[in-house]
Amino acid sequence: MISVSANGKDFMSAACVSRLGVLFNCDCMDLLSTIRNSSIDMIFCDPPFNLKKNYNTKRFDDSMNDKEYLEWAYSWMDECIRVLKLGGSLFIYNIPRWCVQFGAYLDQYLDFRHWIAICMKNTFPRGKKLYPAHYGLLYYTKGEPKTFNKLRTPIPTCRHCGGEIRDYGGHRDKLNPKGLNLTDFWDDTSPVRHRKFKKRSANELKPIIPERAILMSTSHHDIVLDPFGGGGSTYIQAELNHRHWIGSEIGDCTPIIRRLSEHGKFESGNISRTILDVFEQYRYEPGAGAISGEYKPLTTQESLDAAIGSGS
Ligand SMILES: C[S@@+](CC[C@H](N)C(=O)[O-])C[C@H]1O[C@@H](n2cnc3c(N)ncnc32)[C@H](O)[C@@H]1O
Repeated sequence: MISVSANGKDFMSAACVSRLGVLFNCDCMDLLSTIRNSSIDMIFCDPPFNLKKNYNTKRFDDSMNDKEYLEWAYSWMDECIRVLKLGGSLFIYNIPRWCVQFGAYLDQYLDFRHWIAICMKNTFPRGKKLYPAHYGLLYYTKGEPKTFNKLRTPIPTCRHCGGEIRDYGGHRDKLNPKGLNLTDFWDDTSPVRHRKFKKRSANELKPIIPERAILMSTSHHDIVLDPFGGGGSTYIQAELNHRHWIGSEIGDCTPIIRRLSEHGKFESGNISRTILDVFEQYRYEPGAGAISGEYKPLTTQESLDAAIGSGS
């Protein structure tokens, strides 16, 4: 098990350790303060949007005034900028209202790459406003990106007849058979809202969003950091795509642990040197395997199920 400490604070134990990553049940500022300068390849942030949402925890407030929210956001952004490697990437997902302000702040320190418009369906207009149809995914790098993988998306087809939707102006035969170049407008990423199909909790992103960010900006075994764990979408995608990951979640970490275990990626025990080297000060007992803090030692699927009470 690993415990980390920084700024003279007590050592805090990880909430869980997976094959490639480690999760802490803490305020992201505590985690970030333990991380060395220029040690992370990619950071994905999906913070609360300050929309008075109930996150089932009293450990943070989603109804700050604008100034407080921005000051809070700038504090974790400063830390993200500090821990990012040269050429590393920072993604921040938020509503346009905050993306505008975040962009103006980040522009002082990082290089703007994209404002990716993520299409939102089933939202509703408030007051004298247009119908909001997208959220923003800001994409910044620290200098020239060290990794940029061009992604492709399948050629869109009609969900009723299966035929292709566009004719590509008579140039269909020149399209790459692997699909179309990914653009900065993602309209295939809406959350599933119909109860019948909904398996994720309200806060979880469709996994394709962090997955694309990871695939676009990192290579195998790079380190991905997500300070706002939520349901753990980023961690699952990092695992599945063979990237190391580090995370924090201030609320309940059980849903993340459950999801990791469902993907068969949960192991307690050894942590790679790649991850250990990221922390300023740590204690590590190789193979100790005990998940400390509020979680019981979890070494098998059965004990994991019992500890988190997942039942089926
Ligand atoms: C929008 S959700 C993230 C969802 C996640 N991207 C996913 O797809 O599963 C934001 C999360 O940040 C957590 N959070 C809020 N403030 C935090 C803080 N200071 N440190 C760590 N986590 C925090 C909340 O508890 C919430 O679970």
